Amino acid sequence: MQPLEAYLQAQQQRLEAALDHHLPTPDAEPPVLSEAMRYSVFAGGKRVRPVLLLAATEAVGGDGEAVLPAACALEFVHTYSLIHDDLPAMDDDDYRRGQLTSHKVFGEAVAILAGDALLTYAFEVMAGADLTSRFAPAVLLLATHCLARAAGWSGMVGGQVVDMASEGREVPLDVLEYIHRRKTAALIGAAVTIGGLLGGGSTTQLEALRRYGQAIGLAFQIADDVLDVEGDSAALGKQAGQDDKHGKATYPALLGVEASRQHAAALLDEALTALSEFDASAERLRQLARFIITRKA
Ligand code: IPE
Ligand code: IPE
Ligand code: MG
Ligand code: MG
Ligand code: MG
Repeated sequence: MQPLEAYLQAQQQRLEAALDHHLPTPDAEPPVLSEAMRYSVFAGGKRVRPVLLLAATEAVGGDGEAVLPAACALEFVHTYSLIHDDLPAMDDDDYRRGQLTSHKVFGEAVAILAGDALLTYAFEVMAGADLTSRFAPAVLLLATHCLARAAGWSGMVGGQVVDMASEGREVPLDVLEYIHRRKTAALIGAAVTIGGLLGGGSTTQLEALRRYGQAIGLAFQIADDVLDVEGDSAALGKQAGQDDKHGKATYPALLGVEASRQHAAALLDEALTALSEFDASAERLRQLARFIITRKA
């Protein structure tokens, strides 16, 4: 088996090509919008969510090529969330993925609209011919529902609202977990579930993937919080130390770095246990779970 690093690189390359194929060309009308959409998508993300989607499809024996448009849709939703998360009205960040944030380059109005366009376009792709020609409508509808629910009021957007409302306040652990499960774990969970659904996973497999996704999703945001304390801005491609500056509700702020790491390690165990029914086909998911808590960026 290829080492994880090489696998990640290969999947990232495959995704870059698919993202390019699905996005409007840079000169599509109005060019400032297509340019802004492409700018943030291609600023250089890790592509963790679409890679997880592909790995989940692989785990249930599905067709990785066929699910690529759904993987792109997921990355569009994620990229929109980053553009809006960085706006002055939210986390007010100047750097993202190693480049100036969208509003710094294009102004706030275009940044907001580029986010809106990416979010909407994700659902255009989910309901578009590349997927409808390959998947049964009922399965595609379930996958689309899963993406919408993870992204919307009861998922990411809801989590972001409570994240913002908690700035400068010390929230109890259950509220902190509520924020992280919604703002981050929901979409990561959706990545894994959509991969499993479109890959043709059984009910038992989908339930295992759901538990895996919830655990690594929360672990992902805890690792992000720890990296904001200890990480290197250049490696992260975004300014470290911002959470403390904004009084964000984070695991390190509430529990300290060491206890946060232990919490993430316990979630890794939970994720691996959830996959115990799977054979070697889920090995990438196991490796990705370890990567999520040990990553440096
Ligand atoms: C950053 O996500 C936002 C969080 C939910 C923590 P990533 O760390 O996956 O960012 P990119 O996509 O690699 O830029
Ligand atoms: C972001 O959490 C969650 C999103 C839904 C975008 P953060 O605000 O901690 O993400 P970063 O650190 O800016 O990437
Ligand atoms: Mg934020
Ligand atoms: Mg932020
Ligand atoms: Mg963060």
